[in-house]
Amino acid sequence: MSTKLAEAISVHQHYESGAKEEQPAYYSALQAKIVKKTATVAVCGMGYVGLPPSSAITERGFPVIGLDIDDQKVNQLNAGRSYIRHIPPSTVQGMLNSGRFRASSDFAQIANADVVTVCVPTPLNRYREPDLSYVTSTAQVIARHARPGQLIILESTTYPGTTVEILGPIFAERGLTPGQDIFLAFSPEREDPGNPDYHTTTIPKIVGGQGPFALELAAAFYRSFIKRVIPVSSPSTAEAVKLTENIFRAVNIALVNELKVIYSKMGIDIWEVIEAAKTKPFGFMAFYPGPGLGGHCIPIDPFYLTWKAREFDITTRFIELAGQINAAMPQYVITRLADELDRRFSKGLNGARILILGIAYKKNVDDMRESPTLKLMQLLESRRARVDYFDPFIPEVPKTREHPEFAGRRSISFDPSGLNAYDAVLIATDHEGVDYKTLVDRSRLIIDTRNVCERCGLKSEKVVKA
Ligand SMILES: NC(=O)c1ccc[n+]([C@@H]2O[C@H](COP(=O)([O-])OP(=O)(O)OC[C@H]3O[C@@H](n4cnc5c(N)ncnc54)[C@H](O)[C@@H]3O)[C@@H](O)[C@H]2O)c1
Repeated sequence: MSTKLAEAISVHQHYESGAKEEQPAYYSALQAKIVKKTATVAVCGMGYVGLPPSSAITERGFPVIGLDIDDQKVNQLNAGRSYIRHIPPSTVQGMLNSGRFRASSDFAQIANADVVTVCVPTPLNRYREPDLSYVTSTAQVIARHARPGQLIILESTTYPGTTVEILGPIFAERGLTPGQDIFLAFSPEREDPGNPDYHTTTIPKIVGGQGPFALELAAAFYRSFIKRVIPVSSPSTAEAVKLTENIFRAVNIALVNELKVIYSKMGIDIWEVIEAAKTKPFGFMAFYPGPGLGGHCIPIDPFYLTWKAREFDITTRFIELAGQINAAMPQYVITRLADELDRRFSKGLNGARILILGIAYKKNVDDMRESPTLKLMQLLESRRARVDYFDPFIPEVPKTREHPEFAGRRSISFDPSGLNAYDAVLIATDHEGVDYKTLVDRSRLIIDTRNVCERCGLKSEKVVKA
């Protein structure tokens, strides 16, 4: 049996009783539009998560409206430019040239859409609680312009219950009952920016619908441009799948970070241990230590569940512990750096010149949201070290919520002759394309938090793994 057929059958199995439910009035017409690819798709939020599928959906023949409240993004897209490094301008130009894509900040266009996806931010507020304000305000705008017969899919990462408990009532209040007048679904985004092996269309997509018909429609929509769609029994399950994936990462990264600290004291190299351990063909999956968590997902998403769990009188101890261990990593790295300066050069951090390599939260991306490098810079400067940074992907630090003080700082250019003016180089992000050999040859001390020097075959007593 083909995978697609099996998945289609599985949609029915999730809702055996639902199959007996009477078909809502708007279902067949919308299904036909999706199958014929004449359904107009509105994507709300043209960021890292909204833009890539917009391209895939346009390519498959659907008319697409890319909606964003940020006029600058809208104007750039309509001028054929891209603001996301791994999406080349030619992709945006291709979308425009197809005649099927326009970006807009006019949300009244929702009325013309058949399928609406929501890809807006879900950060934490200053109390580290879920900030659903972007999701709710987007849903309210959509509901204002919505009409019966639309499929609305939330893609933003969130806690179980959001789609049914928060979005559903917003539409119901305007007389649009989910399952009858409109169809609601949740489908988490699994985009991995910069990953050369997996793209929007090849990353399997989880889908949960509020009721059998919403699931059918959402699954049919995604199947039209994604190779593999996995239906689950409810939007809450789909929401939980996404959180589980990211909690799994956060906890496992915390584990190897803890092991790094222990093994380092024992004179054992954690990276050598992981390389050897991962030769086991079953029961082990490699995760790597680092200077702390970064990005828009792993440091944030687990706490969406922590918050929701309180409603059920449950404390998420694993998640909290992982958070503590990961959050302690920048300080651990700085302590190792200070110890080495002391041991090698009888020098303290006060007045030391430090070059940080990599300010993006992971290699080969121009995204620095929640980057641990900012914390490293803050810790160093609080001890009066003089810090420069080099990052070929981020020439200037944008304004960030947690560290506005670094906005406007500019990357130095890579100058081999200037390297020994620094007391130490701290590798925070292992971008490709950096001349690590010259870095090792010309620097006085390197603190390598990513093991990139060894991976490049560079062994030197000047390199300290931390
Ligand atoms: N970046 C990733 O790799 C990734 C991966 C998986 C899931 N996610 C999740 O996807 C969601 C979006 O993340 P992102 O990385 O794309 O964020 P982003 O900041 O890159 O993009 C969000 C976009 O939404 C726009 N926006 C904000 N409010 C809006 C509104 N009311 N209406 C329309 N547009 C609005 C912003 O201007 C921005 O362009 C989050 O829930 C995130 O956790 C992100």
